[in-house]
Amino acid sequence: MSIHTVLVTGGAGYIGSHACVELLNSGFNVVVVDNLSNSKATSLDRVKQITGKSVRFYEADIRDKEKLNNIFTKEKPTTVIHFAGLKAVGESCEQPHLYYHNNVFGTLVLTEVMQEHNVKQLVFSSSATVYGITDKTQYSEDLPIGAINPYGRSKAMVEDILRDLAAADSKTKPDKPWKIALLRYFNPIGAHDSGLIGEDPNGIPNNLMPYVAQVAIGKLPQLSVFGDDYPTKDGTGVRDYIHVIDLVKGHISAIHAFNKEQFLSGNCKAYNLGAGHGYSVLDIINTFEKITGKSINYKISPRRNGDLAEYYANPELALKELNWKVEKTLKDMVADTWNWQSKNPQGYQ
Ligand code: NAD
Ligand code: UFG
Repeated sequence: MSIHTVLVTGGAGYIGSHACVELLNSGFNVVVVDNLSNSKATSLDRVKQITGKSVRFYEADIRDKEKLNNIFTKEKPTTVIHFAGLKAVGESCEQPHLYYHNNVFGTLVLTEVMQEHNVKQLVFSSSATVYGITDKTQYSEDLPIGAINPYGRSKAMVEDILRDLAAADSKTKPDKPWKIALLRYFNPIGAHDSGLIGEDPNGIPNNLMPYVAQVAIGKLPQLSVFGDDYPTKDGTGVRDYIHVIDLVKGHISAIHAFNKEQFLSGNCKAYNLGAGHGYSVLDIINTFEKITGKSINYKISPRRNGDLAEYYANPELALKELNWKVEKTLKDMVADTWNWQSKNPQGYQ
């Protein structure tokens, strides 16, 4: 059997670099396209250290159609995993144009080039944030979409575009229709257990786990817990945290599922990638303290604008159709985050 080449946009980033490890370990050839706007190429050297195999790396912006065309001509991928995108909710409210240009226009250029090269298998990084506000706490894929900030809307718009693309040619091009998996991530945390790759946020982290890790290592003085008066088990926000390794395995499962019934005559389908249950902010702090022996200096602060009290995935569809479910525990997520943080206190620098 010929070895498939998977083109990974954003492959130098946090989730992308872990995906490269899993793809290489699963026997795929890997080509990475990344403009390094939020990452360092060192991550790909570390991927090689872990796997003993190299990815072919192109420093390029996915909006540069000519470059992308040349890469497709040379590398002949069969499948694309599309991680490249900007992801900071606050920044997206300040600079919506930047977010729509990068995330929406970038995907348009990518899918145009894919279409021109007849590459029609795509796994897209979507987000639970597309669900917006609902009175449900457990999200199933059939809930209506209603994102509440420009970042979330950029993901929701891309989902719409991809659904339209698949619908347009599932009947007219039965020989090679689009097969698109929209993977809606809940809260990815953790790192590869080697401690060689992990999340390396620019500046002060927005997200809970990297913030806690930087307080533990002494880079930041104190964690603010955003609200302790939510209607949750201990008053703090509850999220469905998922180990990044479980998450990237979901992408491999999606690629395999392109040969399964639901994709045979073309389709664009959304799947939640989450554990199916949540942990509170205090659960995370307590587990971190237990596993690392470090005490986390924190104070209760006002709620953060735009935060919801509690939500978690219904992951049944991914189990049924992708044969995927999470395997790692909160302890694994905390231990692997700490292993990465303590071995790389300054990230990749
Ligand atoms: P990341 O910032 O670490 O990785 C994204 C990568 O894409 C970076 O290496 C960046 O340099 C690259 N990139 C950005 N714009 C590009 C462009 N125009 N051309 C080429 N490369 C570009 O982020 P991540 O956490 O690894 O997230 C990966 C994807 O998953 C993103 O699309 C993000 O929106 C999505 N997602 C992330 C989370 C999360 O909590 N981390 C949750 C849901 C969805
Ligand atoms: N939190 C704190 N203090 C912090 C940071 C976070 O108490 O310093 C709390 C939040 O209030 C929330 C929980 O920790 O209750 C998790 O917050 P994160 O910022 O880590 O994650 P979010 O659930 O807010 O958002 C994440 C990504 C978004 C993505 C969303 C999808 O950051 O990009 O998940 O569900 F859209």
